[in-house]
Amino acid sequence: MSIRILGTGSALPSRAVTNEEIAELVETSDEWIRERTGIAGRHVSTGETVASLAAGACDMALRNARKSADEVELLLVATCSPEDVAPCAACQVQKEIGAGNAVAFDLNAACAGFLFALHTAWAYVESGIYRNALVAGSEVLSKLVDWKDRGTCILFGDGAGAVFVEKCEEGGILGFVQHSDGKKGGVLTGVGRPLDNHWFHLNPDGNYLNMDGREIFSFAVRQIPKTIEEALEKAGIALGDVDLFLLHQANRRIIEGISKRLGVDMARFPMNLERMGNTSSASIPLLLDELNRKGELRSGMRLVLSGFGAGLTCGACVLEWK
Ligand code: COA
Repeated sequence: MSIRILGTGSALPSRAVTNEEIAELVETSDEWIRERTGIAGRHVSTGETVASLAAGACDMALRNARKSADEVELLLVATCSPEDVAPCAACQVQKEIGAGNAVAFDLNAACAGFLFALHTAWAYVESGIYRNALVAGSEVLSKLVDWKDRGTCILFGDGAGAVFVEKCEEGGILGFVQHSDGKKGGVLTGVGRPLDNHWFHLNPDGNYLNMDGREIFSFAVRQIPKTIEEALEKAGIALGDVDLFLLHQANRRIIEGISKRLGVDMARFPMNLERMGNTSSASIPLLLDELNRKGELRSGMRLVLSGFGAGLTCGACVLEWK
């Protein structure tokens, strides 16, 4: 028994911000950002919240799965940037979409959060506690970012993605691994902040997201290929039998490094980071929804989802598309 993804959804803030606009704030250029990261633009909240974006994505995932909100048994929101400590974002989403019968709670594993939430949903369904789950990754990282620090503000974007999953007897998720290494926690840190990005109104100063970019870069390029191979072994699937690798959209060069280490052609690594930037826990479900809507995911296709982030955390999931 496993779970399969029946529907996907996504939501983005209406305000799109180009590299040129960021170059007006810090000493950088469109050329530098594109060359070093592959990012050309991102969406930034001017009022949208983690809960409102997640609710939009969840609503869309339910419609895509042809399910009604009152059928949802478990509602998980992965986020590291909620507006409120209480109520949690998942309970706010529950109220917004009317999923009155669901049990709702948040989960934070930074950029690996969606994968960890999906694994949690899988464990609940596999153990027979619930039959289905709505799983979202939603972030408004623009409020955690120092818009005067060119090393971080160029990278991140806001948005949400969601999937509806339900119990299945065949296919679905075939293998899963997760890792955490708290000893390396200092490599990427941040404190909670109110909605306060440059396009909302200018933040005075204070504690912002802090990052050792090079360390994270090499962690991802070294660790993700191993994590993917581990998940494939659990699933009993060969690397060559995977149709698409949907990786956390952090940096084009990281994805290129991973594809090289695995010996897999870049054509099998779809990307949307050019338009989205790094949306943390939202990046994988946003990409999944984009491919689903374009009709690029066909029944029986084998997908690997894999992400990494603050913690440090990382994970990989092998699944067969419905
Ligand atoms: N514009 C122009 N120059 C910049 C710049 C910017 N936005 N940011 C840094 N630089 C400069 C640096 O000051 C440095 O100059 P110096 O050589 O005079 O000291 C030079 O560019 C190279 O900096 P470096 O940090 O080595 O660049 P990089 O190639 O490692 O790229 C990142 C920096 C942040 C893009 C890259 O390390 C990265 O993407 N890391 C992963 C981060 C990540 O994914 N975090 C989230 C994890 S989920």
